Amino acid sequence: MNLKIWHKMSIGIAIPSLIAMVGVMLSYEYVNKVKNRQGFVQIADDLSEKVLEVRRNEKNFVLHKTEEYYKYCQDAISTFSNSVNSISAEIVVQVGKEDFSLLRNSIHTYSVFTHSLLQNYQQEAGLVEQVREEGRKLESFVAAEKHINHLSTDFILNLRRLEKNYMLFRDIDSFDRLNTALLELKSTKHICIECIQYISAISSLFSVYQKSDSLVNDLQVVGARLEEITNKLAASERQKISSFLTLTQRNLLIALILLLFLGPFFVYTTANYIVAPIKRLDDITRKITEGDLTQRAPIRERDETYSLALSFNKMLDHLQLTQESLEKSMELLREKQALLVESEKLASLGTLASGVAHELNNPLNNIYLATQTLYNELDIEHSPGIVKESVKDIFSQTLRVKRIVGDLLEFARGKGPELGRIRIIDIANKVLKRMTATGEIARVEYNIQAAEDTEIDADGLMLEQVFVNLFSNAVDAMSGEGSLNISIGPVDGSVRINISDTGRGISPENLLKVFDPFFTTKEKGTGLGLAIVYNIIKKHNGEIDVKSEVNKGTTFMITLPRQHGS
Ligand SMILES: Nc1ncnc2c1ncn2[C@@H]1O[C@H](COP(=O)(O)OP(=O)(O)OP(=O)(O)O)[C@@H](O)[C@H]1O
Ligand SMILES: [Mg+2]
Repeated sequence: MNLKIWHKMSIGIAIPSLIAMVGVMLSYEYVNKVKNRQGFVQIADDLSEKVLEVRRNEKNFVLHKTEEYYKYCQDAISTFSNSVNSISAEIVVQVGKEDFSLLRNSIHTYSVFTHSLLQNYQQEAGLVEQVREEGRKLESFVAAEKHINHLSTDFILNLRRLEKNYMLFRDIDSFDRLNTALLELKSTKHICIECIQYISAISSLFSVYQKSDSLVNDLQVVGARLEEITNKLAASERQKISSFLTLTQRNLLIALILLLFLGPFFVYTTANYIVAPIKRLDDITRKITEGDLTQRAPIRERDETYSLALSFNKMLDHLQLTQESLEKSMELLREKQALLVESEKLASLGTLASGVAHELNNPLNNIYLATQTLYNELDIEHSPGIVKESVKDIFSQTLRVKRIVGDLLEFARGKGPELGRIRIIDIANKVLKRMTATGEIARVEYNIQAAEDTEIDADGLMLEQVFVNLFSNAVDAMSGEGSLNISIGPVDGSVRINISDTGRGISPENLLKVFDPFFTTKEKGTGLGLAIVYNIIKKHNGEIDVKSEVNKGTTFMITLPRQHGS
């Protein structure tokens, strides 16, 4: 994942925070809505109270039926109506437009009904007066005995009582009784004019009362509707508040559950993302401290640990290279040390050898000269054979020992080369010429190739010795028969000499020892020839190497600098 550590941390913290924030924001919004709705509930409650006030005044008006109570009633209606009208359009929309329009229509109808009722009540009052007036007239008519016989005063008085009761109670019973009495009055023969007027007044009163009752009924229906609407508004707002509270509660619970489960999950995942590459680095560091420098930090994340891992791996590369070069240096040091020990060994061996050779040299010379004299003085013809053979043997063995002592002295010689400008090919040819003269290479086919410029600074005599030893070894290896190839050519400021023979070759285990002093595979060899060659080449700051294949041949490769010291 190509995210930086701080990105990962931000995500890990941001997601739980976001959940908490969403939860809080939703709750805040719901609480705000609840607050608004509480305002609406208050408005609805206020309207309900005002409706109750209207209804109370309505009852008073219906009870007292006077203009004064009508006014109270109208005041209550206008207060209620003003309250309804003062509610802003926005609130109306939120609470319920239809309810409000129904409310407004109902108020209007209610007000109209109240007014009609007042008019009816006023009409009622006139009619009540008229009924009373006509009743009184009928009473006095009957009292003056102008009546027809069967209309008794008692009947009239009873009629008037029933009339008063009806006006007082206005219920069905009193109506029925009064109506029955009136029917009775109507049924009297020769009905008087007062009777007719009284009946007509009562009938009018009946119908006005009926209308009033109907109006009251209508008014009450509308009033009840007003109550119902306002109560419904309050109840619906309360219901909305309750559902908001439930919703808020549910949202908070969901946010809490999400926080409880997702919060730790995100924090854990983020921590893992951050810690994993560091842990890997830690593991690798531990392996490295245990010595395994081949370990490398895996590069997976592209965060801050990416460059850390890169630098870490770079550092390890350097460390590994340093260790490798240190190991190489150590190896070189060991080799040099071995060489030093070897050269120390050779030096002390040389000292010992030169001491012994020096001591042996003079007596050996004396023995050689004495043997030579003895041989010359010996009467060969008359001497017994055993004497002759013994003197010959002493002479040849002395020669051999002399050569060994000579080699030893040469090997031990500590002095440096006496340099001169020489042509290598001349030295090689000189040695070959001498060997041809002695018949040493009579059956050897030799070939020498040399580049033009092969002049170097070297000790001519020492180089002669080198060629003598190498050519002699080649002739020995070929048992005096074969081909000897010599090539001399320039190589990078040096001269390279290759001497190849077609002899028996050197076994791989012997190849390592051929330059060791006294190593020989020959019966009469000293094993000093190649040791001397090695010493001479080293004294000229050159290199010598050998490669060989058993039964095929051997090649010695010598590199000598053109200028001594370069
Ligand atoms: N050209 C060659 N082919 C095969 N073997 C060789 C050759 N040159 C040297 N050797 C081997 O290396 C040995 C050491 O050679 P080195 O010249 O030092 O001593 P040597 O020849 O044995 O004795 P010396 O030189 O005193 O006569 C030889 O005995 C021989 O086994
Ligand atoms: Mg030799």
